[in-house]
Amino acid sequence: MTSALLEATDVRKFYGDTCALDGVSLRVSAGEFVSIIGPNGAGKTTLVNVLTGLTPPSSGRVRFKNVDVAGGGPARLARLGMARSFQLVTIFPGLSVADTLAVAVLSRLGRSARPFAALARDTELRAAVEEVAVLFQLGDKLGRRARTLPQGDKKLLDVASAFALHPDVILMDEPTSGVSTADKTAIMETLVRAAERMGIRAIVLVEHDMDIVFGYSDRIVALHQGRVLADATPAAIRADAAVVRTVLGIAATQGRTQPETASNRPPTSEPDSRTPLQQC
Ligand SMILES: Nc1ncnc2c1ncn2[C@@H]1O[C@H](COP(=O)(O)OP(=O)(O)OP(=O)(O)O)[C@@H](O)[C@H]1O
Ligand SMILES: [Mg+2]
Repeated sequence: MTSALLEATDVRKFYGDTCALDGVSLRVSAGEFVSIIGPNGAGKTTLVNVLTGLTPPSSGRVRFKNVDVAGGGPARLARLGMARSFQLVTIFPGLSVADTLAVAVLSRLGRSARPFAALARDTELRAAVEEVAVLFQLGDKLGRRARTLPQGDKKLLDVASAFALHPDVILMDEPTSGVSTADKTAIMETLVRAAERMGIRAIVLVEHDMDIVFGYSDRIVALHQGRVLADATPAAIRADAAVVRTVLGIAATQGRTQPETASNRPPTSEPDSRTPLQQC
């Protein structure tokens, strides 16, 4: 077995009495595109938060490049070569596209002081900003305020800021949420091409759109109520009756991306997938 770049072992996370993650283990190796799927409240964002050091796990281990990183904080993880984008766009609406990317580039370079003054006179910084902007088709929008961008470009800018850190591994929490189906595909094509060009070694994607998940993933991890229900290739996931019943069927109704069929319709007896109190 190849050694994992990123590895979680028996991770549990409680919020008060709510058990968001209940003994989750997963490995991500170099070269992999891994998607995490599951109904609303399954624990996907919590898992990304734990993997990226934003949230300390209640128990369990997280290792990145063989270093223990559980609860280490995103800044430390970024220095080690991990970046992420958020489910909700986190860009500063008042900043221009160029300044937004400059902040990210400067933080990679360890130079966070006076980013905007730096952008005006630093040709190396400007070149790095333009490189990322062009890869994300934002090259002709560098002077625009982030708030004036269409939603698809806001999502791209958020992802581009994470890519600007030149990470080895990138985790993206629903990078296509809130945009039209046509824009989703364009965003995915853009970010996959950018990842290849920038030499990103592994991608972890949280996504509700099953066309995207099955179109891009080498491996899919299905979460349900804080547990890994399945961790397998797309073909094996499609053939897994429990996943089809508990995750894919619910995705069809939540993501509205798949026509409902007899095989993926959620059973009427299924409990509400967003159980407010889950017992570990
Ligand atoms: N900060 C928090 N405080 C308390 N409970 C939380 C917190 N974050 C998440 N939870 C709870 O943990 C569980 C998992 O939530 P999480 O956001 O990880 O799910 P998700 O799979 O990302 O859902 P979605 O598809 O809606 O984004 C839910 O029951 C949620 O209400
Ligand atoms: Mg989420």
